Amino acid sequence: MGCGASTPEDAQNEIAAGGQQKPTDYNYMCKLLLLGDSGVGKSALMMRFADGSFKGSFMSTVGIDFKMKTVTIDGKRVKIQIWDTAGQERFRTITKTYYRGANGYILVYDVTNQESFDRVKYWLNEIKKNGNENVYKTIVGNKADLSDQRAVKFEDGENFSKEVNIPFIETSAKDGLNVEGLFTTMTQKFVKFAASQN
Ligand code: GTP
Repeated sequence: MGCGASTPEDAQNEIAAGGQQKPTDYNYMCKLLLLGDSGVGKSALMMRFADGSFKGSFMSTVGIDFKMKTVTIDGKRVKIQIWDTAGQERFRTITKTYYRGANGYILVYDVTNQESFDRVKYWLNEIKKNGNENVYKTIVGNKADLSDQRAVKFEDGENFSKEVNIPFIETSAKDGLNVEGLFTTMTQKFVKFAASQN
């Protein structure tokens, strides 16, 4: 669990109540939601970014999990809340309720699993139905370290990204490839947007 609140609900309540954190602790709060099929590496990406760790074992997320990390962008302290949704179908009713408040969506597939790539369309549709369509998104092909098991070419990801007009990146939660860049870029986009609203 992340710092601050002990459950996602507590975190939401904290924000609603203005936060238990002193206002000076951060300038912006950025909520990023991880979406994608079970096993693609959503939790692993969150752990890599927030804790700098990687676990090889697979413990499927139950409902929703979250972690926080505070970074400095353009001289502003930004508290990033990463919400890790369960990919399993049976948790869909719970996870849907977290779409609405997101400041960014990270749509993850596994480059060794063609079906998970084909299902990105499904996840995009879920955002359309349950979330904010005009919020910044990124499509992520994870497990790029598994080159000998690759089923989805880099070009396939790139072509789909052009088709739907959403940025694309390949990552490895295992060796850290592009993970920092992914979360930092998403947060930068949010800060730019938030600053333009002031
Ligand atoms: P759900 O919680 O069921 O939705 O799954 P998830 O998308 O959160 O997947 P999770 O992060 O639990 O990872 C599933 C398995 O893939 C675990 O055994 C991870 O160790 C492994 N994994 C995740 N990312 C990578 C990666 O970049 N490279 C490799 N080689 N394995 C990875």
